[in-house]
Amino acid sequence: MGVFNRDNNFISHDQNYNPRELAVQAGINFPTTFRFAVTSKVSISGVRSRGVFSPSQNSDLSRYGVALMEAVFSHPYTLDKNRRILILGSGVGLDATALTKMTNAQVTATDISINSLRVAKINSKIHGVEDQVNYIHSDLLDSVSGQYDLIIFNAPRVITPEVFKKQGLPEEKINKIMTDLKNGPNDLYDYKGVLFERLMRDLPVKTTSSGRLLIMADEHIQVHVPKLYGVKSLSKPLLWDLKNTKDHHFRIFEISPRI
Ligand SMILES: C[S@@+](CC[C@H](N)C(=O)[O-])C[C@H]1O[C@@H](n2cnc3c(N)ncnc32)[C@H](O)[C@@H]1O
Repeated sequence: MGVFNRDNNFISHDQNYNPRELAVQAGINFPTTFRFAVTSKVSISGVRSRGVFSPSQNSDLSRYGVALMEAVFSHPYTLDKNRRILILGSGVGLDATALTKMTNAQVTATDISINSLRVAKINSKIHGVEDQVNYIHSDLLDSVSGQYDLIIFNAPRVITPEVFKKQGLPEEKINKIMTDLKNGPNDLYDYKGVLFERLMRDLPVKTTSSGRLLIMADEHIQVHVPKLYGVKSLSKPLLWDLKNTKDHHFRIFEISPRI
């Protein structure tokens, strides 16, 4: 069995598995194995594949994913026994796998991308928790049943034409991207905050009476949080480090729809 070794803070996979081989057998394109940072102190071994959102170039859950997982691990709810946790947009499932290995929580993880879920299941398998993480293919909360104490979302970035303009993209390219985004879901961007609006609408039904959403999101989303919901900022603003978007800030928010 892979173990979480508190001494070196590395969650290694079960050495009886060859992650790349398993991924190839499952028909996954160009799988590569990495050691990914989950928080600044904990890392985990895993597989990623071309064509699915995965922890980025520098092999981190991404700067935002790491910040979010740090907030999750320091959140009083996470480590309590039998807490029901839902990860929206789990990508290649390293957040779900690490959370399952490190806590007693019951973890459900979703993604809109079937390919991401296929890789995620392999990552849970190589860590011996494939039966513990409940993976669901779902567009936001649409196919999720039950209620959760903690919902976690490293959300796609809210995008408007203005943001792309600041990045210096030509008008023609911006129009094409915006049309594509309008026509269907996209794993990286949230067209004008439409996803977030839907999430706010469906959230109360899927949270327990003291349940919360921890979301890494554009700070402008605050204006769309219904007045009845509690909202708290859990982090300082993080800059989106794309070219010319220095005024684009992200934060971790805790949103309580029923408290
Ligand atoms: C920024 S990535 C986060 C991945 C991972 N949780 C992490 O922190 O590294 C956003 C993820 O949300 C997924 N996603 C985008 N839109 C979604 C939707 N409508 N419903 C569920 N997942 C979605 C994407 O496929 C992607 O894997």
